[in-house]
Formats: sequence, C-alpha cells, structure tokens
Amino acid sequence: MKLKKLKKKVALEVLKFIPKNIIIGVGTGSTISYFIDFLKTIRNKIIGAVSSSIKTTENLKKNGIKIFELNKINNLPLYIDSADEINRNMDMIKGGGAALTKEKIIASAAKKFICIIDETKEVKILGKFPLPVEVLPMSYKYVKKKLEKLGGIVKKRNKIITENNNYILDISNLYINNPFDLENKINNIPGVISVGIFSQRKPDVLLVSKINKVKVIFRKNEK
Ligand code: 5RP
Repeated sequence: MKLKKLKKKVALEVLKFIPKNIIIGVGTGSTISYFIDFLKTIRNKIIGAVSSSIKTTENLKKNGIKIFELNKINNLPLYIDSADEINRNMDMIKGGGAALTKEKIIASAAKKFICIIDETKEVKILGKFPLPVEVLPMSYKYVKKKLEKLGGIVKKRNKIITENNNYILDISNLYINNPFDLENKINNIPGVISVGIFSQRKPDVLLVSKINKVKVIFRKNEK
C-alpha cells in the first residue's frame, strides 16, 4: 500500500538523525509505530524514551526501550513525531490520535523537534483536517459555543476520553490563515487544555516522504 510505504520510508530515514546515548521524546500515531519498529534496531545506542501516550509507551516497552518520565530527566535533546497537516511555514495541525496535549508538552520541552510525514500531509492552508481541541469536560458546551464563533463546525469527538480525562472537540470547515493568532485565541478560552495548532513550537527539521526520496527541510536558523 502506497501510504504505508511512504510512512515506513520516513520512519527509517529519521534514524540517521539520532545521536548516540540520548533520551528521545517519541510521539504517537501510525508513522510513529513504524518508527518504533526501526528504533528497536538501535535500542542499545540510546538511553531510552519519553513517551507521549499509553499506546506509544506500550509499544516502546514491548520493543525493549526504557521509558523515562519527563519530570525525572534534566533535559530532552530530541523529540520525534508526525503531524496531520503542515503548511510551508511549518505550522502544523496535530491531535488526530487525541494525544495533542502530551505531544505539545514534550515537543516544547525538547531542544530539537524532528517531524516525519508523508507528502499527503503537506497543505497550503491548514484547516482541511478537523482541528482538535482538548477541553475540560465541565466546560465543553461553553467552549463549543466560543469555538463556533470562530467560524467552523464544532463536534465533540464521539466516545473519546483523553488520557488526561478530558474531551476532544474537532473543528471542521476552518481556513486557518493565521495559525499563530488562532492558537493564542483558542488557548485563551477558559476550559481549553490545549489546541492542536503547533505554531509556537514548530519542528526544527522536517522529513517529507515522497515517492522517490525523503526530502529534508531545516527551519530557518537550524542546521
Ligand atoms: C496524534 C498525532 C499524529 O502525529 C498524527 O495524527 C499523525 O498520525 P499518523 O502518523 O497516524 O498519520 O498528532 O495525536
């Protein structure tokens, strides 16, 4: 299957970017599952991993990779994760797997963030993928009304309780011209735990899996 091949290719390629003897932050999703399969092959060269979800933790443990809590380490040199959408400025939508809050914390805490995607994730304007917002359950109707004023169609994700015991509201039909502002606006609504726009913490390096190659893009000031 084409998409699966693209995801596997980029998941393998990113191994070249992992220095020896470090702890790595690890994201969540199908691309990251392939990455963990490959990470297993170099597990003796790394110290271990900080995980962004229960699923990732189980997967890492199953593959013999030691788990560290973010609170128990002094610094995190690298975070590797995928995304649902990314634009040319490297603003992203994440959270398709409902792990956005932990993903955002770990991405922000890490010195370097490498994002690995297949080419279908590249977009001109963010918003075709419904934007996830994690909300405190007691506030969700209030937050929903506030979000509706931003112009999209807001739906509570069916039967989903996040690992932090919260709900997810997905906003579809958005045309996100200014991701930075929208991230701030949504973050400012009381009851919002986090929003799946990653515009304040963008990747430092982006690996895009294309049919014939994996393209490597360094964000400005990054080498
Ligand atoms: C999970 C995420 C994932 O990175 C995103 O959904 C991409 O997933 P996949 O690799 O399965 O396409 O943000 O919360």
